[in-house]
Amino acid sequence: MSDQEKSPAWAIDPHVPSVARMYDYYLGGKDNFAADRAAADKVVAAMPYVRTFTRDNRALLSRVVTLLARNGVRQFLDIGSGLPTQENVHQVAQRAAPDSRVVYVDNDPIVLVHGRALLASNPLTTVVQADLCDPAGILRHPEVRAQIDFDRPVAVLLLAILHFVPDDEQAASIVADLRKGLVPGSYLAISHGHAGKVGEEVEAQVRGAYAKTTAGDIKPRTPGQVAAFLDGMELLEPGVVPVEAWRPPDDPVEPDFDKAGFLAAVGRVR
Ligand SMILES: C[S@@+](CC[C@H](N)C(=O)[O-])C[C@H]1O[C@@H](n2cnc3c(N)ncnc32)[C@H](O)[C@@H]1O
Repeated sequence: MSDQEKSPAWAIDPHVPSVARMYDYYLGGKDNFAADRAAADKVVAAMPYVRTFTRDNRALLSRVVTLLARNGVRQFLDIGSGLPTQENVHQVAQRAAPDSRVVYVDNDPIVLVHGRALLASNPLTTVVQADLCDPAGILRHPEVRAQIDFDRPVAVLLLAILHFVPDDEQAASIVADLRKGLVPGSYLAISHGHAGKVGEEVEAQVRGAYAKTTAGDIKPRTPGQVAAFLDGMELLEPGVVPVEAWRPPDDPVEPDFDKAGFLAAVGRVR
């Protein structure tokens, strides 16, 4: 077992709410414990529409992965992949392009256990336990490199994870380090929590609920802050908008920046 794979002290502790299991609960999954549901219910009480924008975020994942596979990308690095649910990245990518390779990265050991069970028979897909806060460690991880050739374009997915890095400078430096490992034609896709105009009280309730989780905090960011992560990249249309308004499949959706939810942005490395 490498240092990257050693489980932290809170490994699968059912009494400490895990952000992966809370997210599973928002999505209606069954892989969660009482402590996860109690913490998630506090978030639901503060923002009753959290389940809606969580589902919208999964739908965004599907649209982005399909688009990038159609654009020729065959390698996906999904950091903060979460517990397996419906329409995971490899299912979406391999439907569009069966030779797509996918590496799932998450620091929650329960994701590794469930992910390995799901992926046992998929040779083009791997799940690795590693920490976003060590981007160099992810890029040089032997199991990542066994699946992904960084001399060819890669789509790095940072969906609903960067807000778990509350320090702005650290978050920017993580994204910059990941980008350094990508050749032109690669993509970086971000979805990120934002508070809209919910007000300080609601934001404090939500951050209070996340303070006691495995992540320790959640930091919403503004559209401008999310756009800054992709500075120097070609920002795909329609720019930074709420996930439901990012290339919606049917009728156009008017972006509502006052609502709390997830913002989406996709950049292409020039
Ligand atoms: C809200 S879920 C998002 C799941 C999926 N990306 C999606 O958008 O549907 C966030 C995931 O990021 C993982 N995570 C949080 N902080 C992390 C870190 N520092 N390193 C790796 N994974 C992390 C959590 O364990 C969780 O599974």
